[in-house]
Amino acid sequence: MSLLAIASALCASEAFAAAGGTLVVFYSRSGNTRAAAKIVQESLGGDIFELKTVRPYPADYRETTEVARKEQKENARPALQTKQAPKLSRYDSVILASPCWWGTFPMAFMTFFEANDLAGKKVAVLMTHGGSGLGRSEEDLAKYCPKAKLLKGLAIYGGDVNNAEEDIEEWLRDIGVK
Ligand SMILES: Cc1cc2nc3c(=O)[nH]c(=O)nc-3n(C[C@H](O)[C@H](O)[C@H](O)COP(=O)(O)O)c2cc1C
Repeated sequence: MSLLAIASALCASEAFAAAGGTLVVFYSRSGNTRAAAKIVQESLGGDIFELKTVRPYPADYRETTEVARKEQKENARPALQTKQAPKLSRYDSVILASPCWWGTFPMAFMTFFEANDLAGKKVAVLMTHGGSGLGRSEEDLAKYCPKAKLLKGLAIYGGDVNNAEEDIEEWLRDIGVK
């Protein structure tokens, strides 16, 4: 193989391909964040990756809050059905769409952060919530992904997600991913 052929084969390989585009990673228990994540994906035309825990949370809201509180207190890492986002190296930005659970991400995101290297990527939080806004999510993101380039997040009240299209569009333009 000539040097030129080796060089072009290397450049075509994923590790050397220039990254671009935005991946949407989301978790949703009751649908609000799923709807918000879909708005982002449809607006940007990129891919979407859903975090699904191996063990489902209880159907009952209050019971779920108890399980989630315990997981946070114990710094748990709930197992994910698929831990690694496919072809993460292809993307240069990642939108993390998450419900607010006890002031931050559900612990399933911590499992995700430890299994996926977001170093060097532009990363922003889109959080749906019941009053806490972004809570501590951005501080936690900076802690778990210290080498990511953190962009400004957006908080949407859970009940308002279906009227949030314009706000989401404006935010995506504002942070420069659209
Ligand atoms: C386990 C649990 C903990 C929650 N903790 C908070 C919280 O600390 N602050 C808040 O504003 N909303 C909290 N909520 C409300 C959710 O963030 C809100 O309803 C969200 O939009 C749900 O998103 P989903 O439908 O995608 O699951 C909590 C909900 C659950 C189930």
